[in-house]
Amino acid sequence: MARREVNRDRDEVWVKLYSSNHQLLLVGEGDFSFSCSLATRFGSASNICASSLDSYDDVVKKYEKARSNLHTLKRLGAFLLHGVDATKLQRDPDLNCRRFDRVIFNFPHAGFHGKESDPYLIRKHRNLVYGFFHCASRMLRANGEIHVSHKNKAPFRDWNLKELASRCSLVLIRCVAFKKSDYPGYENKRGDGSRCDQPFILGDCSTFRFHVAKELYTEKVKWRGVKERESKHHQTLTRTSFPHQYTKESRDEFAVQASQEPLLDCSNRFNGVSHGIYKGKKRKMLIRTSFVHPYTGESRERSMSELQGASEDIFNGNKADY
Ligand SMILES: C[S@@+](CC[C@H](N)C(=O)[O-])C[C@H]1O[C@@H](n2cnc3c(N)ncnc32)[C@H](O)[C@@H]1O
Repeated sequence: MARREVNRDRDEVWVKLYSSNHQLLLVGEGDFSFSCSLATRFGSASNICASSLDSYDDVVKKYEKARSNLHTLKRLGAFLLHGVDATKLQRDPDLNCRRFDRVIFNFPHAGFHGKESDPYLIRKHRNLVYGFFHCASRMLRANGEIHVSHKNKAPFRDWNLKELASRCSLVLIRCVAFKKSDYPGYENKRGDGSRCDQPFILGDCSTFRFHVAKELYTEKVKWRGVKERESKHHQTLTRTSFPHQYTKESRDEFAVQASQEPLLDCSNRFNGVSHGIYKGKKRKMLIRTSFVHPYTGESRERSMSELQGASEDIFNGNKADY
C-alpha cells in the first residue's frame, strides 16, 4: 500500500493547473482536444471524465478531429459522456454520485444568436455559467476547484463570473493567464452554427479558479437544515392532525402508514372527507362513492359512521386537534 503511494507520487504528471492525480471532469467539450491533450501528457486518462452537450453522432459530424480524439481518450481509459447539460449535471446518473478535484468548462458559450454585446445574449451566457456553477459546486471533493476559461475583454467580462460564482457560495481563488500553447493539440472551437469547427479569437483570456467558500456554504447548509426541519414538522402535523379522528390510531403510527400509502389512495380519502365537510347534504353520497380506506382494512360502513362523526366534529368547530 505504502509502496503504491510512493510510486503514484513519483509518477504524478502536472500539466499547468492539472495533475494526473486529480479526478477531472470536463464539460462543454468541443472536439475533445483539450481533454485529449491532458490525457496524452499524463500518459493515461483514467482520471478523466470528459463530456459534451452534443450526442456522439453530432460531435463526430461537427468536428473533423473528434473521432480520433475520442478514440485516443478511450484507449487511454477516459470515461466519456455525451448529451451532458452542464446546468443539469446532477440529473446524469453517471455523474450524480461522483466527486471531482477539478470541474472544468473551457469557454462556455450559449451559441451565436447575434451581437455578443446584446443584453439578451449576455443574459443567456450568464444563465449557462450560473447553472454550471450551481451544479459543479455540489460535485467537488475537499479542496476541489471549478475552472472556467474565459475572455477578459468586454463584452465577455460583463458576464461577471465572480458575481455569478458568489451566488453559488463560490469565491475566486486566482485568475491565471490562459495560453493555448500550454495544451499542445488543443483547438478552441466555436462549437455552434455552420462554422462550429472553426476556432474563435482567444485574445486576452484567463482561467478563473473558484472554490467553495466554506463559511458561506456552512451558513447555507444550516439554513437549508432549518427549512427542511420546519417543512418536515409541518408535514407531520398535517398528516397526523386529520385521520386519527376516525382510525383511532396513534399519531406516530399514522405518520408511518401515511408515508407508505400510494398517492392515489391518499387523494381518494382526502376528497371524500373534504367534500363531506364543505358540501352539506351531498356529504354522505360523496363519501360513499369516493372513500376507499386504504390502510386500516375496515369495512366501508364502519369507516363511514366514524367519518361522519369526524366530519361533524369539524363542522362543530372542534378543530384544535387537526
Ligand atoms: C465556444 S464553445 C467551446 C468548446 C470547447 N470547450 C473549447 O474550448 O473548444 C462552447 C461550448 O459550450 C457548449 N455548451 C453550450 N451550452 C451547454 C450546456 N448547457 N451544457 C454543456 N455544454 C454546453 C457547446 O456545446 C460548445 O461546445
